[in-house]
Amino acid sequence: MPFTLTTPLYYVNDRPHLGSTYTTVACDAIARYQRLQGQKVEFITGCDEHGQKIQRTAEAAGVTPQAHCDAVSARFRQLWQSWQISNNHFIRTTDPRHRAIVEQFFARVEANGDVREGRQQGWYCVACEEYKDDPAAAIEPSCAVHQRPLEWRDEMNLFFRLSRYQEDIERLVASPGFVAPASRQREVQNFVAGGLKDFSISRLDVPWGIPVPGHAGHTFYVWFDALLGYLSALLESDDPPDLELAVSRGWPADLHVIGKDILRFHAVFWPAMLLSAGLELPKRVFGHGFLTREGQKMGKSLGNVLDPEVLLERCGADAVRWYLLRDIPFGEDGDFQQQRFSDLVNNDLANTIGNLLNRTTSMARKWFDGGVPPAGAALESSHPLAVAALAAADPFDAAMGALEFRGAAESLLRLAETANGYLNTQAPWKQMKQPGQEAAVGSDLYAVLEVSRWLAVLLAPLVPDLSARMLSQLGQPALESGASASLTWHPVRQWGLLRPGDPLPEPVPVMQRLELDSPL
Ligand code: MSP
Repeated sequence: MPFTLTTPLYYVNDRPHLGSTYTTVACDAIARYQRLQGQKVEFITGCDEHGQKIQRTAEAAGVTPQAHCDAVSARFRQLWQSWQISNNHFIRTTDPRHRAIVEQFFARVEANGDVREGRQQGWYCVACEEYKDDPAAAIEPSCAVHQRPLEWRDEMNLFFRLSRYQEDIERLVASPGFVAPASRQREVQNFVAGGLKDFSISRLDVPWGIPVPGHAGHTFYVWFDALLGYLSALLESDDPPDLELAVSRGWPADLHVIGKDILRFHAVFWPAMLLSAGLELPKRVFGHGFLTREGQKMGKSLGNVLDPEVLLERCGADAVRWYLLRDIPFGEDGDFQQQRFSDLVNNDLANTIGNLLNRTTSMARKWFDGGVPPAGAALESSHPLAVAALAAADPFDAAMGALEFRGAAESLLRLAETANGYLNTQAPWKQMKQPGQEAAVGSDLYAVLEVSRWLAVLLAPLVPDLSARMLSQLGQPALESGASASLTWHPVRQWGLLRPGDPLPEPVPVMQRLELDSPL
């Protein structure tokens, strides 16, 4: 069975921002890690293109909704390519095959008696595409998330009988690990304990949506349609639009990664819909935190939105990926701070990791004929750096498996610090001046080069380009972890693979220092 992993399907009302980039980068690290571990991965991302919000955005821009969606989704697709995101599916919910999947799914739910008509009254936030049922809305009808007025709605809709699934969902959200991190589980459990109400799954006044078969004038509520994108995404390019076929291509999802604001949809509504259609449930829903910038919420009105295209151009993907994964505990809220960003990138990647490799290859080339020195004692499994490298791999794997990217990065940093300390203590530049010390120096340098190789290998899922540049400096091939990767990393996760005498290329810094003299 493949490991099926999803990002949310991003609304195309606006250009990509740092929030969507954050989720996508984290998923990419997971996908690459799983592939390197030998898993076939179905990595799904895409765009959520229907609904009133998109319809209005297109109207305001004076273009048809379709033209608008084509333009913005192309931008997402290109952005993920330039960030080297290794998704192998990109679903657009305006894809005609998706419409067919939605129709088939709805037919099952309806046949199961889970669709009824009803009157929907309430305050609606178009930006959230959600009814707000908190009592505060009745007094002060404004959306707490978007600080925008809510709109009163009163119409006959089709409802999904969520209330029927109360016990199933209670059991599901109580099961350990379904909602992660654990801190979010309580929140979902409380919501479910409050009693699940049927929710409306159609709209009468939104032409920009998928028509509900057999219910003239109704289009599907954008969330009902969007969640099903995770299934349609699994169809391969030549597949006919058949729900069972899509399911056979990799359902259930092993992991939905989302932001904490859309947890209910994924951990409550979606599983109930799947139960109704007789399909398996996703294994885990992970709700990460929200990013602020220099302590402030990011928003257009504040003019402080971080543009991923600018970030990429000015800083490069490795720097941003490293910072997001290494500094923000995955699952918690985080704050993007420019000074801390450049400090961490320069300290961790340019100095601790990059410079270690750089100075060691320079010495090795100078004193050992331009190549890898004889290994000598460095090949013994009791060598302190061999011990340190092997010891770093376990916590690294444990952290990656638990989606604790920060812990994973820290175990690599500790290994790099150990190797730097070793180099400073052994001081080969002094030792080399003493007669008869060449073998000892060679072995020390060999051990540090091996640590650098280990670091490059283990960095591959987090910062794939940096990993490739480091390996190239060691005369080694890059470790392919992208969508077409077919080899695991187990053969290169062994101590002592560098071959003495193999040439080392001219050293060039593997990581440019960030010198950010103006705000990003
Ligand atoms: N279209 C829905 C998802 C449908 S999934 C079937 C949607 N789209 S969104 O574009 O508005 O949001 C996508 C994701 O971005 C959400 O997971 C949201 O939590 C995340 N983020 C939006 N702003 C964010 C930050 N400032 N920080 C981190 N993530 C943020 O919701």
